[in-house]
Amino acid sequence: MNTELVKITTEDCDEKFNKAVELLQNEEVVGMPTETVYGLAGNAFSPLAVSRIFEAKGRPTDNPLIVHISEFSEIYDLVKVVPETAKKLASKFWPGPLTIILPKADKVPYCTTGNLDTVAVRCPSHEIARKLIKLSGLPLAAPSANLSGKPSPTKAEHVFEDLNGRIPFIIDGGDCKEGVESTVITLAGEKPRLLRPGNVTLKQLISVLGEVEVDDAVLNPLKKDEAAASPGMKYKHYSPDAKITLVKGSFDAFCEYVNGLDKDTYAMVFDDDNVENLDIPYIKYGFADYKNLSHNLFDSLRELDKIGAKQCFVRYPDEENKDNLAVLNRLLRAAGFNVIEV
Ligand code: TXA
Ligand code: MG
Repeated sequence: MNTELVKITTEDCDEKFNKAVELLQNEEVVGMPTETVYGLAGNAFSPLAVSRIFEAKGRPTDNPLIVHISEFSEIYDLVKVVPETAKKLASKFWPGPLTIILPKADKVPYCTTGNLDTVAVRCPSHEIARKLIKLSGLPLAAPSANLSGKPSPTKAEHVFEDLNGRIPFIIDGGDCKEGVESTVITLAGEKPRLLRPGNVTLKQLISVLGEVEVDDAVLNPLKKDEAAASPGMKYKHYSPDAKITLVKGSFDAFCEYVNGLDKDTYAMVFDDDNVENLDIPYIKYGFADYKNLSHNLFDSLRELDKIGAKQCFVRYPDEENKDNLAVLNRLLRAAGFNVIEV
């Protein structure tokens, strides 16, 4: 299959969107930018479109998809009931990087929800994504547009690297602002529960809902035979080919540990680390401040593969700063929970 990569800006007229819209209406899939990461979009009501998404990504079919809408009112097509808690969250954080899970409406096919009775819904703030939903007149199921297991794509070229030849069309809408996927909260259980941290922070969720449980799998590996609240958590994730080790401790102790290691070994450090003391090649992944950290995180992990790194030691984000939860969650998975203290 030939993959078309087309630059579109938010100012472009509806005409430019025609090809993508036509493909979506014909049960095909399209790579689209969102404010978090690029998504691989298809008609959420079409089992054929959904099967194409799973196939292109090589994604296990029990891992459910997030359904994207352009306006709050469209949620009524997808879920059984909309509780007050969902209305409150949506009025505060939509459009934006928050996904809400609720019991699904009958017409949402089970292939979209990985056989679950719940559906994940998100209203993205990215104008291109919203326009695509509006013009196609469809709710769009869209997982991150990477090959299953790889770091999520935050640039159109990342989508092209992974899915060239596997999908017909990618919209290049520039770099994603947030750089990590949306926060996922379920309102389908007794209490609101955070399943995946993102840039809508736990503190912000608590400020609206009062109480929010944090799923164990956010910062811990699943125990053997434990069922995952969010099926995505049981799969290896965000992994470059290089073996990742997270390193807790001061920068001086970090340098002492990694200096003198093999030449295929890289370091991933903070922009404000004093690299004069570091003897091995390195990538900087952002200031220890969380917004910057998430913006470049996946691009840095992908960079490791491009330079052929065999292993990489990564500076550990400040755990005390709860705003780092999203970055820590992704790094722990990229490292397969391989953490050392120096
Ligand atoms: O920012 C984002 O959320 C991006 C952009 C494209 O919108 N999408 C994204 O989708 O990250 P994906 O498929 O890569 O991650 C969705 C996560 C998976 O871990 C999945 O298991 C979980 O959400 N999920 C989806 N539906 C669910 C459900 N009904 N119950 C529990 N977890 C669910
Ligand atoms: Mg993903």
